[in-house]
Amino acid sequence: MPHAQELARLALDIAREAGELARLRRSEGVAIAATKSALADIVTEADREVEALVRDLLGRARPDDGFVGEESGAEESLSGITWVVDPIDGTVNYAYGIPHYAVSIAAVSGDPDPERWTALVGVVFNPASGELYHAVRGEGAWLGERRLAVSTPSDAGALLATGFGYDPATHEGDFARLRTVMPLARDIRRAGAASLDLAYVAAGRLDGYYERGLHAWDHAAGGLLVSEAGGLLGGAPGGRPGRELTIAAGPELFPRLVAALGT
Ligand code: IPD
Repeated sequence: MPHAQELARLALDIAREAGELARLRRSEGVAIAATKSALADIVTEADREVEALVRDLLGRARPDDGFVGEESGAEESLSGITWVVDPIDGTVNYAYGIPHYAVSIAAVSGDPDPERWTALVGVVFNPASGELYHAVRGEGAWLGERRLAVSTPSDAGALLATGFGYDPATHEGDFARLRTVMPLARDIRRAGAASLDLAYVAAGRLDGYYERGLHAWDHAAGGLLVSEAGGLLGGAPGGRPGRELTIAAGPELFPRLVAALGT
């Protein structure tokens, strides 16, 4: 089993290179390649190209590792390590030219299912802002050189973030959940990139975050950032983060958020 620090170095290098490619393609103009689960759920040529680059670089460095990515087929692991990758998280922001998107790369060991995996390394890089987050299991979370720690909300209430799925059929449920958490909130953010929402919880820029419908690649790296920054991470009901729900917050807010969300 490789040292997690080795995996982190590789993930950091690849995230930088992939982020540069995403930024370059953005500066050249972005074409929507296809829609996915709903008309609003888009993939750009850049998503595909960046995922192909990440996959190729990982495959050359660690040919026996597995791969799970947003835009291409999964590959089983022979080494026990699997890479879970969102090449451009925040694709709609990216397509609209909003500089809030990220390359998200995690290394997990064991069964590459969020119900069972052990996250070893998480890297989230926003090439538009230059902010590079990383976490190593048991060794902490950083933004650049700065060690991260989650926040405790003030008496004014919690600054919370969430997201809304692309499928209009899920919106009523999203609004109902929003209503139940509003009493805890000083305000709400919907910034459009789950990996960065989680990174912001780790950095104390948000007090908490929750969202229904996330895929493994949306929360794999950001989730480790939160737990390594002293935060708590959960799903529904009382379980691990998953499609049904992902919840992240500091230890003081977490149980109140879980209770408000009724899990
Ligand atoms: C999406 C973003 C968004 C979240 C969606 C995700 P994508 O990822 O993280 O914030 O609300 O659920 O699917 O499609 O931009 O990679």
